[in-house]
Amino acid sequence: MATEKILVIGSSGQIGTELVMALRGIYGGANVYASDLRKPEGEVLETGPFVALNVMDRSALNETIKSLKITQVYHLVAMLSATAEKFPEKGWDLNMKSFFYVMELLREGVLKKVYWPSSIAAFGPTTPRLDTPQHTIMDPSTVYGISKLSGELWCQYYHDKYNVDVRSIRYPGLISWKSEPGGGTTDYAVDIFYKALQEGKFTSFLSAKTTLPMMYMPDAIRGTIDLMEAPADKVKLRSGYNFAAFSFDPETLAASIKKHIPNFEIDYAPDFRQHIAEGWPQSINDTVAREHWGWKPEFTLDKMVEDMLMNLRVKLKIK
Ligand SMILES: NC(=O)c1ccc[n+]([C@@H]2O[C@H](COP(=O)([O-])OP(=O)(O)OC[C@H]3O[C@@H](n4cnc5c(N)ncnc54)[C@H](O)[C@@H]3O)[C@@H](O)[C@H]2O)c1
Repeated sequence: MATEKILVIGSSGQIGTELVMALRGIYGGANVYASDLRKPEGEVLETGPFVALNVMDRSALNETIKSLKITQVYHLVAMLSATAEKFPEKGWDLNMKSFFYVMELLREGVLKKVYWPSSIAAFGPTTPRLDTPQHTIMDPSTVYGISKLSGELWCQYYHDKYNVDVRSIRYPGLISWKSEPGGGTTDYAVDIFYKALQEGKFTSFLSAKTTLPMMYMPDAIRGTIDLMEAPADKVKLRSGYNFAAFSFDPETLAASIKKHIPNFEIDYAPDFRQHIAEGWPQSINDTVAREHWGWKPEFTLDKMVEDMLMNLRVKLKIK
């Protein structure tokens, strides 16, 4: 394990901030390089190396990976669902070009293993929305979703054709307190906690009964690392694994928050993100991930809400 050198690209984002710290706990601070356009803050900067890198600068990416003798890449950079609808060409360009830059280094044998995240956005409006199976109709209707489905198919292609080790998960909406989300359709489920604590009220950009699959970040990080550390022969699926914890709508999340903040109020002003959410599944069947590499979530909705409020109270210095 100690010989692995890991590069996390997009390390200053919602997932990267926590993934870097978890990987450093396993591989040692010096062996896990954070990299992003944005300089990290706090513990990521203090516990190990950071490389300023624009992943679209292919020669800088190649040079960084070769000179640092990187063996594994977690490629987290993407333009997320809501933002990519505003900048379709730029979103496609960033999501797909950077994907190929990294995958080519894997094909050439410079890298040994790559992690590339997919999303429930890879499903679409005619996908069965309840208990969505691993293998089903996939007809994404957003730029982001099209890029995720394309990436998944390319992951499988690279594995089948070049026998390389690439692994992927279809994340649901992720909820975290350490860093804020970066322009997705499920961002409301993080923002609601800040507003509940700071203002006692929140306006949701999704309607009351818009149910989506969600997960608390500690589960997502543990599952990601478990997949990457599973023996290669257990990872029998090389597109993206369905990955689930719980599902809720804004009204149900608000009710759980109210158990701790009784005066909390929510109202609804759906915007363009409502349409995106309506094209996604409501719940995910993750049996294949459970069977192949032992995935099992720990957090329920109420346990997540309790933990979020406790940690945000400390972070925001609210009694
Ligand atoms: N957060 C979620 O709920 C969620 C759900 C499904 C899938 N995902 C996927 O997980 C991955 C990470 O998501 P996230 O929520 O942490 O995203 P984020 O937007 O919070 O972070 C992305 C990071 O990439 C960096 N970045 C952007 N352009 C760059 C460039 N050219 N070079 C280097 N760095 C650049 C940004 O500065 C940012 O820190 C993405 O691929 C996303 O599609 C996330």
